Amino acid sequence: MGGQEEAMKSTRRAELDLFEDLEATPPTFSVAILNKERFLKILKESDILTDLSLLKNKVTALKGVIAFPKKDREGLLNIDSNGDTISLRKDVLISELNQILEAQTIGRAKYYLKRLEDGVRRVKTNKVSDVNLLRWKEYDDIITDSLWVLDKRDTSGVHLGWYWGNFIPQIPHQMMLRYTKKGDWVLDAFVGSGTTLIECRRLGRNGIGIELVPDVAQKAAELVEREPNKYNVTTEVVPDDSRIVNIGGILEKYGVKQVQLLIMHPPYYDIIDFSKDRRDLSQAGSVDEFLKMFGDAVDNATPFLEKGRYFALVIGDKYSKGEWIPLGFYCMNEVLRRGYLLKSIIVKNFEETRAKRNQKELWRYRALVGGFYIFKHEYIMLFKKK
Ligand SMILES: C[S@@+](CC[C@H](N)C(=O)[O-])C[C@H]1O[C@@H](n2cnc3c(N)ncnc32)[C@H](O)[C@@H]1O
Repeated sequence: MGGQEEAMKSTRRAELDLFEDLEATPPTFSVAILNKERFLKILKESDILTDLSLLKNKVTALKGVIAFPKKDREGLLNIDSNGDTISLRKDVLISELNQILEAQTIGRAKYYLKRLEDGVRRVKTNKVSDVNLLRWKEYDDIITDSLWVLDKRDTSGVHLGWYWGNFIPQIPHQMMLRYTKKGDWVLDAFVGSGTTLIECRRLGRNGIGIELVPDVAQKAAELVEREPNKYNVTTEVVPDDSRIVNIGGILEKYGVKQVQLLIMHPPYYDIIDFSKDRRDLSQAGSVDEFLKMFGDAVDNATPFLEKGRYFALVIGDKYSKGEWIPLGFYCMNEVLRRGYLLKSIIVKNFEETRAKRNQKELWRYRALVGGFYIFKHEYIMLFKKK
């Protein structure tokens, strides 16, 4: 038997052992903390090999250490000594090593090795987020599909869900992960119970929220204060009318000229009465007046959104006098008329209100009689400022 054949056999043997062991271990999302220098050294040593079987042997041994730390003879997991460490999601790392092991040619194996090395050595982000594109596989919490079916709201921490007409925290959370970097500024022009600002504190983004109803603004501010501020960011609730509030003046207090993300979750016209105030969008006398008020709020905020950054509009439709009123698309057109670029229309399942849940049968009967469908969705319309 030639040396190469022997090497191939031993690779297969080692792989089989490992797979058996791995299958016995339930999959977890644990993190491997590695000595960066040693890890890169092993990758480099593998990279200079010209024989595919030898390269695979080396990678199999590496995979063994990561899956079973007791096998660590190289000091790969020795993170006490001087030098940088790197934390990688264990399941993703194992799958990348598997990809190398499954490569049919040395060229392909080296390509995967190089990709792994790049993800350890460098951070590559785009202009609007902190997502490391060289390690994109680790971000499976970030949604990239246009249909969101979220089965429960995040009620962790101070998120209470007390406010009728609030949105689920996952909405600002997702928007901030994809469209802001740590330390960026977010403006929510209809902040209600402060959901966006609570998420700002959790993710290390600064946030300004405008809310017309003083009591609601006050309660939101108190709630937001209760969320730990571990990144030491600024969060402020301003009780005012989004259509005319002096946004430039608020930002100037913090030495900032523009924000990097704009969020708007206005009333869906008159579906919920938020107050009796004439300045409240839920008090508009007609759909046209509602759209005019909404457009004014967009006009007031637009100059303070940085060019190339995103505007997320959360809105639903309404049904009135036997007719579906596509408020979402009407509002979308208002934004497009102001020169924004449409990036996505996300359709998100709608949380059933308690009242509707109790009247499920009645609504179904009404729908059958009236020839319409019961609302189960709302939109997150995503625009980019040109
Ligand atoms: C759909 S709710 C927003 C809920 C928020 N996303 C949350 O999670 O709590 C709309 C909010 O806009 C407020 N509002 C209505 N007209 C306004 C205006 N002209 N300026 C500022 N806020 C306004 C309402 O009082 C209400 O709290």
